[in-house]
Amino acid sequence: MNTPKKVLLSGIKPTGKAHIGNYFGALKQWVDLQDKYDTHIFIPTYHALTERHNSEALKSDTENLVLDLLAIGIDPEKTTLYLQHDVPEVTELSWIFACISTMPYLMRAHAFKDAEAKNKDISVGSFNYPLLMAADIVIQDGAVVPVGRDQQQHVEIARELVRKFNTTFGEAFPVEPEALILDTVAVVPGTDGQKMSKSYGNTIPLFGTDEEIKKAVMSIVTDSGSEIPTNVYAIHKLFRSEQELKKLYEENKGKYKNLKDALLADILAMVTPMRARREAFAKNPNLVSEILKKGGEKAKAKAVEKMKLVREKTGLV
Ligand code: ADP
Ligand code: TRP
Repeated sequence: MNTPKKVLLSGIKPTGKAHIGNYFGALKQWVDLQDKYDTHIFIPTYHALTERHNSEALKSDTENLVLDLLAIGIDPEKTTLYLQHDVPEVTELSWIFACISTMPYLMRAHAFKDAEAKNKDISVGSFNYPLLMAADIVIQDGAVVPVGRDQQQHVEIARELVRKFNTTFGEAFPVEPEALILDTVAVVPGTDGQKMSKSYGNTIPLFGTDEEIKKAVMSIVTDSGSEIPTNVYAIHKLFRSEQELKKLYEENKGKYKNLKDALLADILAMVTPMRARREAFAKNPNLVSEILKKGGEKAKAKAVEKMKLVREKTGLV
């Protein structure tokens, strides 16, 4: 008998343009793992609402991200691709998780601590963020959660909630999710050498125009004096083996412009065919809607079944 494939589940928030840090840190792994797992990829629109209160922007970022995912090779024949709000059952589960979690426990989450350190006014939604993320994962019996290192603690919280629920009410969640982090690309540096992030303005956009990508690459901070431009090399490593790079960087010692040109060529070689696929999907909105409808229905059916069990266990029904 064939054992069913484990569920792999992950999501990326629609909060601006995807960058190559997102691609190498998360999205590429999803594509590579589609055959191995029962893959579920979704756009966490409710999570995006914790930081975005602009309906136009949320809508267009969501549409763009769906196109990005299809363009990089997320295959709807293999992957359940959906929008979080098509599975509103996750909000019910996150409420139940809120009822078995303490404030001090959630206050230890990095995201909360970071926000607090910045003295931000933290919304209740942001505070509860890890509970909703846990619900996303466990409502689908997610086992493998590929994310960047910054999300590892959230997956740990999901594991703890599974245990807490099962010991409090009886087993509804047989699977403890695990984060999957590829150490080689765990943190992709940005043009200034810090972690690449939309919030630092140091990104190289994945689907920018040639000009936008060129501008970002040429802005990579180089440290005059050193023979190897560390920040260029750190990004280049994602595209070529160290051996290939050793040769290239030795031949071009001190010639930063040549090395940036070489990196730019490598990025464009990867992005150009993806861009063509993206344009094809963009021209066919009915197909894209159909893909999301099918994915949403499938994810919802599983969530409804799981919530039936959760409701029984908690005594709601
Ligand atoms: P940003 O920091 O630009 O806002 P997100 O928080 O939306 O990015 O991250 C989306 C996904 O991409 C997450 O899984 C995150 O861990 C991953 N990710 C983001 N930036 C990087 C990076 N610089 N290196 C590796 N992975 C990253
Ligand atoms: N918090 C994740 C991020 O910021 C997005 C996310 C929401 C997610 N729910 C998830 C990722 C469930 C994996 C699984 O990147």
